[in-house]
Amino acid sequence: MSVLEIKRYPDPVLKKKALPVEELNGELQGLIDSMIETMYAAPGIGLAAPQVGESKRLIVVDVSTREEKHPLIVLINPVIVSVEGKIDSEEGCLSVPGYTSTIRRSERVLVKGVDREGRPVEIEATGLLSRVLQHEIDHLDGILFIDRLSPIKKEFFRKRYLRKNR
Ligand code: NI
Repeated sequence: MSVLEIKRYPDPVLKKKALPVEELNGELQGLIDSMIETMYAAPGIGLAAPQVGESKRLIVVDVSTREEKHPLIVLINPVIVSVEGKIDSEEGCLSVPGYTSTIRRSERVLVKGVDREGRPVEIEATGLLSRVLQHEIDHLDGILFIDRLSPIKKEFFRKRYLRKNR
């Protein structure tokens, strides 16, 4: 288990649609442990496997704060099965350092997947957890939060970001 390098935009792995996980073997368990360690070290509240260069449908999430503890979530092959409402909120991403923007997302989601032991998991979420789940599942489809900006805002972002990170 180790802290992995977090891939940054415009790394092509972030644009790829990740493949479903088919086997919960030792290698995958090792990747999960390393992703958890990488997320906490960043520090971040969510991490998707493509962000560490693994094009697999796997995310880890922990929205705990010092004041409020939440369970660590490991979700394999997560799917959003239903959504409700819309809400705007500020968002950022470990793969797009130094940039945040207001993004419109569903207010409430129902997500299904399996945990690291292969047991079915169902999570009904609102607030920050709902937002993070949508953001991380987007990563599995090669979508970054900046892809959800208006074309004008995205162009502005691209110019500024690439100038700074060249
Ligand atoms: Ni992200």
